[in-house]
Order: sequence, then structure tokens, then C-alpha cells
Amino acid sequence: MDIQAMKELAALRAADDLVRGGMRLGLGTGSTAVFVVRRVGMRLAAGDLKDVKVFVTSFQTELECERLNIPYYGLNSPELAGGLDLTIDGADEIDTENRLIKGGGGALLVEKLAAYNSGCFVIVADESKQVSHLALRFPAPVEVIPEARLAVSRALEKLGAVVTLREALRKAGPVITEHGNLILDIKFREAVEPEDIEKRINLIPGVVENGFFTGPREGWSRPRVYIGCGNGAVEIRD
Ligand code: A5P
Repeated sequence: MDIQAMKELAALRAADDLVRGGMRLGLGTGSTAVFVVRRVGMRLAAGDLKDVKVFVTSFQTELECERLNIPYYGLNSPELAGGLDLTIDGADEIDTENRLIKGGGGALLVEKLAAYNSGCFVIVADESKQVSHLALRFPAPVEVIPEARLAVSRALEKLGAVVTLREALRKAGPVITEHGNLILDIKFREAVEPEDIEKRINLIPGVVENGFFTGPREGWSRPRVYIGCGNGAVEIRD
């Protein structure tokens, strides 16, 4: 089974197991989460699902919802009132304690807003996303205001990170996020403590958000993870 099929397997299983009528639902970003969006669209069109109030985490997801006639709402709307019942999203890396790196698609800021304001947060991924330590192989993104690019890069280097400004494809220069910011991708040479690094990065002036997802506070229950495996099974890790 190829990677795309594993992604789809996990996404469909989570969307069918967990999405119910009447929910306030956060829809994530990326090539795995898009299968969830399509499944929700299909169930709405078939009348199997009703009255779901969707929140989109990026332009990509917004366009997909538009295409599928899925109505969506702002997080400040009376329908959502700043909170969600469930968010389903993808991830770039998942460690053994269900801590994550997200933001490979650059949508980390709104993805974290959705995740940390959801009663239930669920990750869908293929088996290649599992790692023992975060940010050694795949970089964690740090969204910064443009004026802070060099100052934040230096502060991140002091934390032990190797820093790269994310460059755009099919546009000269850096990626500009949906909120007008830049992304610094960081990797570490040695294992870091994810809770600690998530908090420390966000204390650097000029940082808007970072792609470590360990929970907004102690006692926050980590995401439930649906892993699509090469043997056709879906492993559910709580
Ligand atoms: C988007 O910003 C990300 O957080 C994605 O959810 C993450 O990069 C996983 O993407 P894929 O499902 O495309 O691997």
C-alpha cells in the first residue's frame, strides 16, 4: 500500500468514526486532512450528516470546502463562539507520546488555534510520520513577523537550532504566510524536550507561533492519533 492510500485510510476511518451532526468541526490542512474534508463533504451531500459547523485552518481547506459546498464559519462567529467540539488534522511528525510537529504546509498558526480550542483533537497520518524524537529529521516551523527574522534566528540558534528561512516555490523569495509573516524552519542535532522548547520559542519577541504541539497546559489530553498502516490496518493511539 502506498503512502497516499495509508493517508486516505486513516482519514476516512477518523471522519466516519468521529464526525457527528451538530458538531463544531475544525478541518485541518495538508494532503491527509484533505481526505477528511472530502469525506465530510460527501456525507453532507448524501444527507448522512447534517448541521456541521466547520472551521477551516487555511486557504487550502477553505478552497476545498468552497468546491464541495461545505459552509464554514469564523472562529468568532456566534455559531462557533471561539470553540470547537472536534478538530481533525494531519501532522509532520508524531512522537511516542503523541506530541507533534505541524506546519509543513505553513498553516501552523490557525491549526494550533483550532487544536488548542477543541474539546477533542485528532491526528490522521500514514505510518511514516512516527518518530522517537521530534525535529531531528523533519523541521519544526516558527512563524515570525518579517522585522524579527534575524533577531529570532539568532535566539533560536542559542537554543541549539539549525535555522533555515522557508523559500517559496514558484515565487522568488520567502514564503509569506496567510497572516503576512515569514517561516523559519528549525532542526536540532540532539533530542529536545518538546513541552519546554514549545514554550521557550514562543517567549522570543517577534515569534507569532511555533509548530511544536504539546498542549496548551498541563493536563491537556494529547491528540488521539489514527495511523494508516502499510498492511491496510488503522492503528488508533490514545
Ligand atoms: C499544514 O500546515 C500541516 O500542519 C499539515 O497538517 C502537515 O504538514 C501534514 O501534512 P500532510 O498530511 O500533507 O503530510
